[in-house]
Amino acid sequence: MDDDRLTGACRPIRSEERIVRQGSDRNGRTKAVASLFLLCPFLVSCSGIQSALDPAGREAADVATLFFTMLLGGAIIWAGVVGLLFYAARKRRVHSEKNAGRLILWGGAVFPSVVLLALLSYAAWLMPNVRPWFQGADGGMRRIEVTGEQFWWRVRYLDAGGAVAFETANEVRVPVGERVVFSLKSPDVIHSFWIPVLGGKMDMIPGRENRLTLQAEKPGTYRGVCAEFCGTSHALMAFTVHAMQPQDYEAWLLARRASSGVQDAEGLALFLKHGCAACHTVAGTEAQGKIGPDLTAFGERGSAGAGTLANEVEHVARFLRDPGRIKPGAKMPHFTMLPEAETDRIAAYLTGLK
Ligand code: CUA
Repeated sequence: MDDDRLTGACRPIRSEERIVRQGSDRNGRTKAVASLFLLCPFLVSCSGIQSALDPAGREAADVATLFFTMLLGGAIIWAGVVGLLFYAARKRRVHSEKNAGRLILWGGAVFPSVVLLALLSYAAWLMPNVRPWFQGADGGMRRIEVTGEQFWWRVRYLDAGGAVAFETANEVRVPVGERVVFSLKSPDVIHSFWIPVLGGKMDMIPGRENRLTLQAEKPGTYRGVCAEFCGTSHALMAFTVHAMQPQDYEAWLLARRASSGVQDAEGLALFLKHGCAACHTVAGTEAQGKIGPDLTAFGERGSAGAGTLANEVEHVARFLRDPGRIKPGAKMPHFTMLPEAETDRIAAYLTGLK
């Protein structure tokens, strides 16, 4: 038995022991650094093509400002509560009932009420900016109609009179610095249209038209998603957003109205032969189906299968052969009975459409 342990007497720290203690200090520091690194994944979601905290539009900037203000408000309340806890722990005993009553009144009622009222007023003041439609401010604004389908997005560009100028799918293009009104619809179930970098989300409800105005401020390519569970492939329902300089946007609109899918006659012939035209449109050809996504200029889209696959021949061919394997619940039938050479050829035709 160690005498020191029995007597509890003071003794100098032995060198091995010092090493152990230094080691445990270092362990503590390592753990602290490691926990900081573990926090990094959470910080990553603060930026990127789909982050509401990295706004590229006017409405999203207001939402982000509101979020950070709320965060500051929350931090102030948290600091107040923790401060009071420390105070209570140190004091142990409140000297008089009068003091206790005053503490509850100021710390428990007045302080939180003032902070919450300030946050609420600020949010109410920001709201008209985030939802300008309620002020009837959409007169003369550019309109894009988006319909949530199972599981993709039908996108129609409307002209000044409200008629459809042309249709496309799974991709939205907007000019920078201009407010655009989105008319949101759905034929069957509820979806929610959300471009986090541009603004808040809005539901697409069968039987009605919801409107959302958004204004992009920074040119770039972003990602939009469906934010309401709508079926088995809800998570496989995304779209690409291009915010373009106004002159590029106008040039694109002109080019898009003129685009034609007849350059590759052999690919088009196979596309028509196997009945793809019953559901799909390719402008300038016999293919005028309206059930599935419009495939005009398919090759310029950022993805295939509504944000599911890279827009490359091999992936598109895989999708054509068996859509349900890649996107469960998709309405498109499989084409596994076709020779692979033919599905490959159709995929090459589609990815070549500009
Ligand atoms: Cu569409 Cu979720």
